[in-house]
Amino acid sequence: MIVCSCQHIACKDIHAAIDWMRASDPDTLITPGKIYHALGKQADCGGCMPLFLETMRKNPSLKIPSNQQVFKLPDEEGHSNERRSQGY
Ligand code: FES
Repeated sequence: MIVCSCQHIACKDIHAAIDWMRASDPDTLITPGKIYHALGKQADCGGCMPLFLETMRKNPSLKIPSNQQVFKLPDEEGHSNERRSQGY
């Protein structure tokens, strides 16, 4: 299915670009701009962005692996203070 009609980008192109980027760099943050760049294209009108983002979110490789995340998730007790004292 065509996602971006200006640049003729199909959903399979988006998934292929995401998989390629994740395989080549597990830490990278994947954005629509990076996908356009990887495909050698440039966004034009931007009208496809909602569908483009929805297609990106369907790819399981989009998220950074949890052991690579920069921000710490809350622990089992719900603490997410990143080891700061409360009254800093
Ligand atoms: S439809 Fe994608 S940039 Fe226009």
